[in-house]
Amino acid sequence: MDDFAKQLKVPPLDPNYFILDEDRINIDRMAKLSDKHPINILITGHQGCGKSSLVRQFASYYQRPMVTFQVGLLSEAGQLFGQQRLKDGETFYQSFLFPKAIRVPGCVIHLEEINRSENPHALNELFSVLSEERSIWIDELGMVGVAPRVIFFATMNEGVEFSGTDEMDAALKDRFYRIHLQYPPVNVEKEILVSKTGITPSLATDILNIVSKLRGNKQTPIDISIRHSLMIAELIAMGAPLRDAVIYSLQISMDILESLLLSIHVETGDTEVEPHRYERYVPPDYIPS
Ligand SMILES: Nc1ncnc2c1ncn2[C@@H]1O[C@H](COP(=O)(O)OP(=O)(O)O)[C@@H](O)[C@H]1O
Ligand SMILES: [Mg+2]
Repeated sequence: MDDFAKQLKVPPLDPNYFILDEDRINIDRMAKLSDKHPINILITGHQGCGKSSLVRQFASYYQRPMVTFQVGLLSEAGQLFGQQRLKDGETFYQSFLFPKAIRVPGCVIHLEEINRSENPHALNELFSVLSEERSIWIDELGMVGVAPRVIFFATMNEGVEFSGTDEMDAALKDRFYRIHLQYPPVNVEKEILVSKTGITPSLATDILNIVSKLRGNKQTPIDISIRHSLMIAELIAMGAPLRDAVIYSLQISMDILESLLLSIHVETGDTEVEPHRYERYVPPDYIPS
């Protein structure tokens, strides 16, 4: 193992990550398959439904090192591999993390938000790496090949597609297995909230009642992810009343919020809002000069 491979980390296991049985079974099959030849897996689903966590959990489960690349931030071709740099009036080529990572056997390469790349050409070079060739010629680096047992995971938010030209989209997509993640059912989400934040099951039920009201809102259903229900639960675990936790976690219109708060009040008898009071925001031991 070279020095670079030694620096890479296997992510820590999340003891409270829940997955649909069928998904787990098929991911296991894909993992086996990756022992034969490198494979690509695309994970789709709503924002905050657990895509990135699933990639981490996979790497942890199989004790594979993992590296994440924010593909959504790329703006030009070549950016993944390296860049010409200037130093003391001389140009030189600086190789980036990506060509090193794909040469580490068994590495999990997470391509985050593959649909969001600012410039479709930025993904061009990925194309050869993900194709059967599994290698790419980079003038400055020579032939860069993908090591055995490497798995590429791409994650993509629901509703958005690859941003490149149509042909490339299709060809790129063609190279991936696909796992479509759904939000888990309420009883599982409840267990996630309780086990991850330490709040009581009855508080978790209160949160999910409100959240499902918003999700099921007839006029304007609001997409509230597990990330958001977790945020609410975490504030509550820090002592916030349900009302505050909701207000400070969700970004929804005041109108909807008002009627929601009314129903929280009715349901839980949560305290009324106190009149606004302002104070100096300074540490308690601060002595004014
Ligand atoms: N199935 C799940 N089990 C446990 N926690 C989950 C699950 N899905 C999502 N979470 C939690 O919700 C948050 C958002 O998940 P994340 O993987 O970042 O979502 P995405 O990448 O789909 O936007 C994380 O804190 C994650 O731990
Ligand atoms: Mg993500």
